[in-house]
Amino acid sequence: MEGLRLEAGGVALVDGVSLALRRGEVLGLVGTSGGGKSLTTLALLGLLPRGVRRVAGVLRLDGAVLDAAAQAALRGRRIGFVQQAPRGGFNPLVTLGRHFRETLACDGLRGAAATARAEALLREVGFDAPARLLPLYPGQLSGGMLQRAMLALALARAPDFLLADEPTTDLDLIVQAQILSLLEGLVARRRLGLLLVTHDLSVVARLADRVAVMLGGRLVEEQEVRGFFDAPRHPHSRALLAAHLALYGEALPA
Ligand SMILES: Nc1ncnc2c1ncn2[C@@H]1O[C@H](COP(=O)(O)OP(=O)(O)OP(=O)(O)O)[C@@H](O)[C@H]1O
Ligand SMILES: [Mg+2]
Repeated sequence: MEGLRLEAGGVALVDGVSLALRRGEVLGLVGTSGGGKSLTTLALLGLLPRGVRRVAGVLRLDGAVLDAAAQAALRGRRIGFVQQAPRGGFNPLVTLGRHFRETLACDGLRGAAATARAEALLREVGFDAPARLLPLYPGQLSGGMLQRAMLALALARAPDFLLADEPTTDLDLIVQAQILSLLEGLVARRRLGLLLVTHDLSVVARLADRVAVMLGGRLVEEQEVRGFFDAPRHPHSRALLAAHLALYGEALPA
């Protein structure tokens, strides 16, 4: 994405943001609340909320410029999305199995083949007995289980890129750690390019190859992860690190 500018009612919410995501690499996107991380992520997916418009910015995949139709065609297929609150990503009235069937039908997979694929995906995200999950409704699964199921759905069409907006924020620490290991493994095994939006600098230290910092709708710093922790350039980056150290008291493993 080059030179992204988003406006609502003539006011710029995001301006001049350029980001590159490469396969096999994790880009951590951090910054204080309201900085524009979620809107930038939604703009990459072509899923901006009503009232927010992209007034500038060029999106390219492998060098080719994507218009709105091309972008929509990639969504779910080459670019997967994992939201913060997993419950909001499911229809409470239909089973997990049906969520998978609908997604897999996009690629013409049906019947026993679809079931087998759904079970393989659920196994990949750590479920030992996936067949037992498929008849369940979202309300019958815990938040951590739903987040793993959402990840499995996001992977169903074998995307090259995954955009994850605070995927662990609503989960307890043990489940957070499980999801992070899972993401780490997926990036390595599937050579995914992962955009990971997070408030948690320990997550960045653990997973990210590069870090981008947003403040007031602008990108104020971008560099590789070790440099970010050793020598953050922007005052806002230093403030984020200082706040993290004040909370956790320890130097971060960069
Ligand atoms: N639908 C909308 N209409 C108008 N303004 C919006 C809309 N959604 C977000 N904004 C504004 O855009 C700015 C960026 O919001 P965004 O949600 O992208 O921030 P964020 O960095 O994801 O914050 P957080 O860390 O709290 O999730 C904020 O000022 C927000 O109020
Ligand atoms: Mg957000």
